[in-house]
Amino acid sequence: MTTDYNHIFNQHWTIYQKILQHDYMGHQAVFGLLEGSLVTHFPDQSLDLLDIGCGDAQTLAAFLQTSALQSYTGIDLSKEALELVPKNVGSLNCAVTLMNDDFVAAIEQLTQEQIGQFDVIFSGFALHHVQDETKAKLFANIKQLLKPHGRFYLIDVYQQENETRETYLDRYLAPTLTHWHALDEHETALLNTHVRSSDFPSTRTKLESMAFDVGFANCECLLADPIHSNILLSMGK
Ligand SMILES: C[S@@+](CC[C@H](N)C(=O)[O-])C[C@H]1O[C@@H](n2cnc3c(N)ncnc32)[C@H](O)[C@@H]1O
Repeated sequence: MTTDYNHIFNQHWTIYQKILQHDYMGHQAVFGLLEGSLVTHFPDQSLDLLDIGCGDAQTLAAFLQTSALQSYTGIDLSKEALELVPKNVGSLNCAVTLMNDDFVAAIEQLTQEQIGQFDVIFSGFALHHVQDETKAKLFANIKQLLKPHGRFYLIDVYQQENETRETYLDRYLAPTLTHWHALDEHETALLNTHVRSSDFPSTRTKLESMAFDVGFANCECLLADPIHSNILLSMGK
């Protein structure tokens, strides 16, 4: 069982490395905007940062390495991914906590213990794995975990307003079949199966209304990229 899971993780990890290397999902633009906003909102500040679905933290590594951090907490279901975090971020000179858990359960647990503890809560390309109802509950808990001046940053894939999940999946996956040439046939098939079974993106309107409904006072959309289907929302109390 462990061997099987490691095998699955390794295959997905290799695919994600190729996606990042060729910028197929548009990481460079969206993470550039995220880092710019973090620097603007939190200049010269020692941050307590929570990263939901952190994976191996490589996409946030440059920011983590160049920022004044008081603490970094990462949550991910994959033990193998978390084991790569120290290699990717180096020694951060702050308290580092890695939680190998389902983020829904882990966030629920943190709200019992750490209300108002985080300056920044970030989630990158992870929350689309849960349905809208669970996302809404997560938004409510995330708001509780933030300090009064804290902000929640969400990077994720999003669905257009007029799309069904099926039409979204067909549109999103089309370029993986025609343009993501760095993936071989087996990797493309694996990616398509994973996305079709595991992705439940929300629309921009739905995400913004979840933010409003749990009482975030402001929710800015810093990017809505219909080509890559990426959205970056920044919300504060
Ligand atoms: C596409 S990766 C994104 C990694 C990183 N945040 C980034 O932006 O590149 C999605 C991550 O979410 C994690 N994940 C998915 N569902 C999860 C869950 N329910 N609880 C914890 N982690 C989860 C996966 O293990 C994976 O590492």
